[in-house]
Amino acid sequence: MNGKIYLVGFGPGAEEHMSFKAKAAIAESDVVIGYTTYIKLVKDLLDGKEVVRKGMTEEIDRCVEAYEQAQQGKIVALISSGDIGVYGMAGPTYEVLLQAGWKPSDDIQVEIVPGSTALSTCASLVGAPLTHDFCSISLSDLLTPWPVIARRVDAAGHADFVIALYNPKSGRRTQQIVEAQKILLRYRRPDTPVAIVKSAYRRRQNIQLVRLDEMSDCDIGMLTTVLIGNSSTFIKEGLMITPRGYANKYSSLTGATKDGEQAGISLSMGLDGWYACLRQYVEDNPGLTLEKIAEYFGVVIGEVLNAIAAGESAGEHKAVRIQSEKLNDVVKSCEQWGRLRGIVRAEAGAVTELFLQAQDFQLRGDWLNIETEAFHCHVNWSKVDSAYLACRKDKSYGVNFIDNKGHLVFRLLITKQDGAFSTDKLEAYAQAWQALAEKNDD
Ligand SMILES: C[S@@+](CC[C@H](N)C(=O)[O-])C[C@H]1O[C@@H](n2cnc3c(N)ncnc32)[C@H](O)[C@@H]1O
Repeated sequence: MNGKIYLVGFGPGAEEHMSFKAKAAIAESDVVIGYTTYIKLVKDLLDGKEVVRKGMTEEIDRCVEAYEQAQQGKIVALISSGDIGVYGMAGPTYEVLLQAGWKPSDDIQVEIVPGSTALSTCASLVGAPLTHDFCSISLSDLLTPWPVIARRVDAAGHADFVIALYNPKSGRRTQQIVEAQKILLRYRRPDTPVAIVKSAYRRRQNIQLVRLDEMSDCDIGMLTTVLIGNSSTFIKEGLMITPRGYANKYSSLTGATKDGEQAGISLSMGLDGWYACLRQYVEDNPGLTLEKIAEYFGVVIGEVLNAIAAGESAGEHKAVRIQSEKLNDVVKSCEQWGRLRGIVRAEAGAVTELFLQAQDFQLRGDWLNIETEAFHCHVNWSKVDSAYLACRKDKSYGVNFIDNKGHLVFRLLITKQDGAFSTDKLEAYAQAWQALAEKNDD
């Protein structure tokens, strides 16, 4: 008889949360292999079975044992809490089998039995915190370097995901949760709701609903999952809820169009429509810089410029996109604009302004350089992907050089004389606009 390996996720722990298939797979098996705690959780299902208990660090041993038993023709259940494919034994088992030369077409079959993972079971105990986009991150740095974990926490914070933290803390790993909290507080309000769920659906179940700035001081252990809300998550009547949409955040934009929204159709702020919404917002709110608009919508400057360029104008703003193959033409045009203000923004917030003449730029390899007695300006020209001529009526006229992620590399603006833009300069700028925009149409 051929052996078989069932990889069984049995859910959080309580028998009523185990799937019918998980119970059937264990019932059909001759051998059940698992971490000691997991074996205890399914002890009522183990009568008459060969049981192999392994310690927490013996993960590979569990896989090897399962393969060896299956090679003897036995049916083996390798069990794991939650879903065996989520931070579980499914991956290591396949790796061990494939390394040993096993193939899916071999006589020994492998079947995965999915289970309810901790993020769903923990969420079910506190309300509906995962009703919008979420991600899970394990804070265990035993196999993943901390900088990788920190980068993921940062990205999830920045992207406003609801976050489920697995393996948040152990006896030895106590500071990772403190660091995660610090990173997230850069993006989220201190009173962002957090659910700390320990031993969900087990005897020692414990639930705490707290604020993000209190999180790391709470009772958190190995059997805890931490659910951190996004910018819309709220707590009401003891329930943690994440709304399905972002309508409230952009109510000033979506409010007027709500009646017109149709079920099953993208919001009018959707893939194409939101450019028009952005232009409307800019028209309704005069006095905004490109940076302020980007901050409001949570997008990069390149997207704001794209949105403005997609219409005739947006209030006092106008923009036209110049393709990468015409970048050198743009610099040539700038040479006609006389004294310029060059603006370089560091990501951390510092803004450098330099007075310069475009004809002093020299292209050396990947770099566009100006070297004067007062300053050296080196622009990594190879990073520049596109340019936008962009102006705000009577306030600023210039060109923005943008990289392939939509970030501003640098900006050149024409300067005022005695508090006003000279007619000559405005004319040269208008001519460049016409020439480059026309060339765009070619
Ligand atoms: C190695 S991972 C295993 C995850 C499991 N395969 C799953 O899908 O839920 C262990 C982590 O899962 C979470 N976890 C597992 N069972 C849990 C439960 N009953 N209550 C709360 N968290 C749990 C904890 O974050 C724990 O540190």
